[in-house]
Amino acid sequence: MKKIISRGAEAILSYDNKIVTKERVKKNYRHPVLDERLRKLRTRHEARILGMLAATGFPCPKLIRVDEITTTLQIDHIPGKLVKHVLEENEKNSAQCLCLCKEIGQKVAWLHSFNIIHHDLTTSNMILHEKKKEVFFIDFGLSFTSSKIEDRAVDLHLLLHALESKHHRIAEACFAEVLAGYSEKSKQAEEVIDRLHVVERRGRYKQGS
Ligand SMILES: Nc1ncnc2c1ncn2[C@@H]1O[C@H](COP(=O)(O)OP(=O)(O)O)[C@@H](O)[C@H]1O
Ligand SMILES: [Mg+2]
Repeated sequence: MKKIISRGAEAILSYDNKIVTKERVKKNYRHPVLDERLRKLRTRHEARILGMLAATGFPCPKLIRVDEITTTLQIDHIPGKLVKHVLEENEKNSAQCLCLCKEIGQKVAWLHSFNIIHHDLTTSNMILHEKKKEVFFIDFGLSFTSSKIEDRAVDLHLLLHALESKHHRIAEACFAEVLAGYSEKSKQAEEVIDRLHVVERRGRYKQGS
């Protein structure tokens, strides 16, 4: 039986028989032509990236079907809890949170090794698979391909800010583990982390001005 699992700002997600349908819905506050273009583009990007990742073994949903006319994707359902909820529930058992964050850092490095920038790395876009006990990444609508150090640094910067806004008490320790995991798996980690500091300084400067 079809069940709504999420009504986000951009899309309605429903579940039926192990399949998730993600339908990007009209936004009346946007110009209709721009709205349609954006929804098509994000649907196309998400399908393209999931297609690229399918052959790599990267933990993300498999693409089943894409329909650009109705701006709808069908992907397989990842059973488990959002990493957001796992971190909230385990704040006091920090060892478990830190271990999860290290894994996230390793997976971001893995994604970057294919030149894929997620661009929406939040703990609501990660699911801890209940059987495989590993983190799956979802929501690739803003993703793109790039080999630039700057884009990788911004990806990590967005993750830091997501941690600070949703898990501020443990964000610093969590992010240190993200960087440790990233450094283990990325050959360019040093350059990316140096650039991350520049991105952070730029952000602080903008906020202060
Ligand atoms: N493949 C999936 N398996 C299980 N749950 C999913 C899946 N895709 C999305 N979800 C759930 O739906 C929510 C919203 O999906 P997401 O792709 O992140 O869209 P949005 O653009 O609304 O953030 C996720 O936070 C997650 O709870
Ligand atoms: Mg999302």
